[in-house]
Amino acid sequence: MNQSHSMNSSERQAVRKANEERTVKFPDGTQVPAIGQGTWRMGERPGEKEKEVKALQLGLELGMTLLDTAEMYGEGGAEEVTGEAIRGIRDQVFLVSKVYPHHAGRKSLRKACENSLQRLGTDYLDLYLLHWRGNIPLQETVDGMEELRKEGKIARWGVSNFDTDEMKELWACDGGSRCATNQVLYHLGSRGIEYDLLPWMRKEGIPLMAYCPIAQGGLLRQELTTHPTVQSIADAHDVSPIQLILAWSIRNGDVIAIPKAVQQNHVLDNAKAASIRLSEKQLAQLDQAFPPPDRKVGLDIV
Ligand SMILES: NC(=O)c1ccc[n+]([C@@H]2O[C@H](COP(=O)([O-])OP(=O)(O)OC[C@H]3O[C@@H](n4cnc5c(N)ncnc54)[C@H](OP(=O)(O)O)[C@@H]3O)[C@@H](O)[C@H]2O)c1
Repeated sequence: MNQSHSMNSSERQAVRKANEERTVKFPDGTQVPAIGQGTWRMGERPGEKEKEVKALQLGLELGMTLLDTAEMYGEGGAEEVTGEAIRGIRDQVFLVSKVYPHHAGRKSLRKACENSLQRLGTDYLDLYLLHWRGNIPLQETVDGMEELRKEGKIARWGVSNFDTDEMKELWACDGGSRCATNQVLYHLGSRGIEYDLLPWMRKEGIPLMAYCPIAQGGLLRQELTTHPTVQSIADAHDVSPIQLILAWSIRNGDVIAIPKAVQQNHVLDNAKAASIRLSEKQLAQLDQAFPPPDRKVGLDIV
């Protein structure tokens, strides 16, 4: 297993290059790194802020230049951490934030977006997501998002935690198919979306954003990382099981994974996962260990 958590500058450059080359395309042609950085649980403890900012900056330096945050995380605290991490380099970052469902009405959406922009210290988002489906009619949210887009406050918009039927409902809205992505839970131990959501999104030509791509902590992660198939393939690549799981999530070129890491060694490991390519045989072995669904499974959420 790879135990090296420090890197010299030429190694850093190589990792950055691997992240720059491993990209995913949005429908408008914009390319983003397949591995970005999450920020949930950041901005909750003032004493941790400096460490969190440094972690994001290290990830940016290594080419993980897509940052995913939300007004919900730390009630704005994570956006402040993110804003500090990108100060002076805003144009080098693809910035994603999310609106609470109860703020997704026409007027409240504008206010929520402006508040996010202020906390982030920027005047535009690259992508603004409806965090999950709430009670506000989808058409109203689409209209609000389109207004923000036309004004340049957001470059594009999308949704999160939408299952296939909800995506179809969205597509039936006027302007609904301008949605650029759907961010859902996806990792080797949770493959339900492969049955119909992921194929549907592929058909419509929009990339998926995978949250919890390394299965957070807990029992499920332990089950994944201690599985003999995962361990032997990780060993064959001289990487950790977590790095392998992360590389698996971006294997097809149309999924953006957003692992969250505060520990510097975790950031380095995640960035290095961009250069791991799994063979057909290894993918088949992983399919056997953690089979894809053969029927409709409800969306997993956290
Ligand atoms: N749209 C939604 O509803 C939704 C829901 C959940 C998450 N998200 C987004 O997706 C992001 C990722 O999901 P997540 O944060 O829930 O879970 P995750 O990225 O799957 O896991 C994060 C956990 O894994 C640890 N970790 C990171 N890299 C590691 C590595 N290389 N080796 C071992 N452990 C490692 C982190 O530790 P340290 O931090 O201590 O380094 C942290 O405890 C979130 O931060 C958020 O931006 C969105």
